[in-house]
Amino acid sequence: MIGQKLRTVINAKTCEITKPDQPLLAFLRLGLGLTGAKEGCGEGACGACTVLVDGAPVLACQAKAGEVAGRSVITIEGLAGPAGEPLHPVQRALAAERASQCGYCTPGMTLRAAALLAEHPDPGDDQIATALNPCVCRCGCYPRLTRAVHRAAALMAADSGPPPAALVPSVWPVLVWPVLVRPSRPWDLCRPEERDYFGVLGDGLVVVWPPAPGSGGAWLHVGPSGLVTAFSGKVDLGQDNQTAFQLLVAEELVVAPADVRVVLGDTDLCPYDAGTFGSRSMLESGQALRFAAAGARQILVALAAARLRGPATDLTAGPGAVRRASPGTRLPYGALLAGARRLEVLTTEPRLSSPADWSTAGRVRAAPRTDVVTGARCFVSDMRLPGMVYGAVLRAPAPGAVLRTADTGPAEVMPGVTVVRDGEFIGVTAADPVTARRAVAAIKAGWDEPTPAPVDLAGYLRSHPAGDQGALAAVSTSAGDQGGPAAVSISAGDPEAALAAAAVQVQATYTTAYLAHVPLETPAAIADWDDGRLTVWTGTNVPFAVRARLGETFGISQAAIRVVVPPAGGGFGGKHGDEAIEAARLARRAGRPVQVHWSRAEAFGQDFLRPMAVIDVRAGLDAAGSITGWDFLDINAGPNGFAFPYAVPDRRLRYAPAASPYRQGPYRALAATANTFARESHIDELAYIAGVDPLRFRLGQLDDERLAAVVKAAADRFGWPADARPVGRPAWRGGQWVWHGAGVAVGLEKGGRVATCAEALADASGRVWVSRIVTAYECGAVVNPDAVTGQIEGGTIMALGGALFESVSFAHGRIARPSLSGYRLPRFTDVPELDVVLLDRPDLPSAGAGETPLIAVAPAVANAIFAATGRRLRSLPLIPAGRAR
Ligand code: FES
Ligand code: FES
Repeated sequence: MIGQKLRTVINAKTCEITKPDQPLLAFLRLGLGLTGAKEGCGEGACGACTVLVDGAPVLACQAKAGEVAGRSVITIEGLAGPAGEPLHPVQRALAAERASQCGYCTPGMTLRAAALLAEHPDPGDDQIATALNPCVCRCGCYPRLTRAVHRAAALMAADSGPPPAALVPSVWPVLVWPVLVRPSRPWDLCRPEERDYFGVLGDGLVVVWPPAPGSGGAWLHVGPSGLVTAFSGKVDLGQDNQTAFQLLVAEELVVAPADVRVVLGDTDLCPYDAGTFGSRSMLESGQALRFAAAGARQILVALAAARLRGPATDLTAGPGAVRRASPGTRLPYGALLAGARRLEVLTTEPRLSSPADWSTAGRVRAAPRTDVVTGARCFVSDMRLPGMVYGAVLRAPAPGAVLRTADTGPAEVMPGVTVVRDGEFIGVTAADPVTARRAVAAIKAGWDEPTPAPVDLAGYLRSHPAGDQGALAAVSTSAGDQGGPAAVSISAGDPEAALAAAAVQVQATYTTAYLAHVPLETPAAIADWDDGRLTVWTGTNVPFAVRARLGETFGISQAAIRVVVPPAGGGFGGKHGDEAIEAARLARRAGRPVQVHWSRAEAFGQDFLRPMAVIDVRAGLDAAGSITGWDFLDINAGPNGFAFPYAVPDRRLRYAPAASPYRQGPYRALAATANTFARESHIDELAYIAGVDPLRFRLGQLDDERLAAVVKAAADRFGWPADARPVGRPAWRGGQWVWHGAGVAVGLEKGGRVATCAEALADASGRVWVSRIVTAYECGAVVNPDAVTGQIEGGTIMALGGALFESVSFAHGRIARPSLSGYRLPRFTDVPELDVVLLDRPDLPSAGAGETPLIAVAPAVANAIFAATGRRLRSLPLIPAGRAR
C-alpha cells in the first residue's frame, strides 16, 4: 500500500525507504549514490559519515534508514541547496582556508560546522573544538578547520563574503585521467618515439626530460589552446605535491597556474617512479618537471624566433606567449603550435629560473578547491563501475596463522554469492558489501595460530636479531634477512676511548611503540579485467610497484596492466596494494569489476605497523660540559634520522635489525621519529647534568648553520624563557597550582631542518598536558607555502598523537582492539596552540615537508614534561593516561 511506504526528504527530494533496517549510511551511499557521507570506522568513532537530520548532526553509520522516515536529511551534496546556488558559507570558508588535505573527513566536518553555526553564530575556539570533536581528521587539519569556522561565522554575520565566482570550481587535477584516451602501451615501457603522445593529447609540443638515477623523469605537452599537461610518476594522497608541481611548471614555462594541469598516479601515462615516499617529490619530480618546462620554454622561443626571422635573444617568454619588445609582437604559445606535432627529448639541462626571482612558485596562492567541500571528490571507495560487484576476503585471526580447514559451503549457497578459492586465498563477491561480508563470516575456517609474542616486546627484539649483524662491528652495511633495511654502523673517531675518558658518562634506553597508519579511508581498490588487460584503481603511494606485483601474481606482462591512483583518503606510508591484488583475484573469477574496501578491523589486522624501537644511548661530558663521546644503538626501527647535528668527533651510530614479532614497515618519517626522540631526549639529559639551559646547550654544540638558524627562529617565536630552569616553578592559574615547562628539540632529515619548542603544564594531581607548540622549518626554496605550512601543522598533530598517547596494544598475539574506539587518534580537543615559522631559502634546492616536521615533536614534549615535572619519560607514548606519574 503506497500510503504505508516510508518516505524521507533527502536534500529536498522525497525518497522512499525500502529497507528500514538498513544502516542509513548504506542507504545513502549504495541506495542513492550519495557518497559524500564516508565510511571511516562503522562504529560511531570518526564522524566521517555525518549528515544532518532535521538540522542536527547524526552519524549515518549508527542510524537505521527507517529512523529518518518523515524527517529531512541533508548530506554534503545538498548543503548548498539546489544546483547553481552559491556554496554554503561553511563550504566557502573551508575552501578558502584550504582546511583539508586528503579531504576524506571534510564532508563530515563541514556539516557539523554548519550545524554549530546555525545554533551558535559566533562560537569560540572551545565551542568549535567540542562541537567538531566527534570528527577525526587524520591529516591534522584542525587548526585550519577552526579558522575556517570563524571565517564562516564572519561570512554569515556579514551575509556576504567572497562571491562564489572567486572560488574556482576546481577539479582534483589527477581526475583528468578519465578524459585522456588510454595509450596503446604504457608510455614508461616504450621509447619516447614509440609513444602515441599526439594520439592521446592532440597536436602540440611534447618535451621529455629523460629518467636519471633516482628520478623517473617527466614529460609535458603544450597544446594549441595553450593548455599545458604535465606528467609525473608521483602521487598525491593529500600532501598536495600536485599544486607544487603545477606552480613549478607555470614558473618555468611562464604561464598562469590555471593553464597547467598535472597528471599523477597513472601507470599508463606517467613516467616510472619508485614511489611517493621519503619526501622526494620536490627533489625528484619537481626538478624533472622544471627541466621539462624550461626546455619547452626554450623550444617555444626558438619557434617564435624562426617565425619572426629574428634572433631568439630579442625575445622573452611569458605570460603564455613569446614576446618581442620592438617592434612589439606577441605570439601566444598555442599559436606557435597549431597543426604541429613536435617531440623533443632533452639531452642537456636547460637553464632554470632562479628561485630568488620566482614570481609564481612560492608567491602565488593556488586556487582553492571546492570539490572537497561539495562531496564531488570521488575517492576509490566512492567509485562505482557498471556491473561492479563487491568483494570480501577471509582473514586470518592472527598474524602468521595458517589455514588448516575451510568449509565454504554455507557461503556458496547464499544467493548471488560467488566464492573464489586460490590456495590460502578465499574470497567472495556479491551484489553489495554487506552480503559479501556476511558470506565470508559464514565460512567455517580452522587455523593453526603461532605462539603469541611475549609481553616484553623490548626484550624480545633485543634477543631476536635479524640478518647479518656483522656490519655492526664495522663501518659497512649488509642486507637483513627480512628484506628490510640493512644493518648499519657509522662511526667517526674513537667513541669508546672518548667515553672512557669522559668526566661523566650518561646512559639510557628509550623505546617507542608500534603504531598503525590509520588513514581515514581504509584501503580500497577496484579491479577490472577486459580482454586480458587489467585496470586497477587504488589509493597507493607505489602504483608502479603495485603494477609489478600484479604482473607477478597473475603471470602477465606489466604492459597489460594499468594502475590508477584516484583521490585517496590518506596513506602515511601504509597503502602498498594488497587490496589491489585481492580485487584483481576476485574480478578475474567474477568476470566483472570488483571493489574491495577493507573494514576498519581489517585495516588494523592487515596493516603493517610502524616498527617499535629500542634505543640505547651512551654519551660522555667533559668537565666543561661539552659532549665528548656518543654511542647510539637503534634496535629494530631503522637508521633514518642518523644525521648527527652536534660537533662530537668521536661517535658511533648503529642500527641492528630485529625479527619483529609483528608485521612492520614504512610509516611517515620512518625511524627518524624514534631516533630523534632518543637523541634529543639524551641531549636534554646531558644539558641537565651540565647545568646548562637546554636551548643554549644545543646552540653551543650544533654543527649545522642551517639548523642553528632554525632553532633560533623557533626559540624567538616561542619566547624561550631567559631564565629557563630544568624544573619549572609553579604558578597559580585557574584556581590551582600549575607547573610550566619548556622543551626544545631539533632534527635534520631528508634535506629539511626542524626545531620544535613545546610548553607542558602539570597540576598537583599529576595530570599533564601540552599547551603550546612552535615549529620552525626550513626546506630550501619554498614552492607552495600554503601546503608546506599545512604539512607542518598536520605532521605536528600526527606526531603529537604518537608522543602522548597513540600506540598499538596486543593481546594473545594480535591487536587488542582493532577499532577507532580502541586506538586513540588526535582530535580537536587534543590540539594545543600551534605556531609555524617557515624559513625560505631560495639559495637551496627545494626539499619535502611531509615528514621531517614530525621528528622533533616527541622529544620537545618529553623535555617540556621533564621541565614541568622533573620526571624523565623515556618511552613513547609518554602519557597514555594523561599523567606523568
Ligand atoms: S562514525 Fe560513522 S563511519 Fe565513523
Ligand atoms: S583531510 Fe581530514 S582526514 Fe584527510
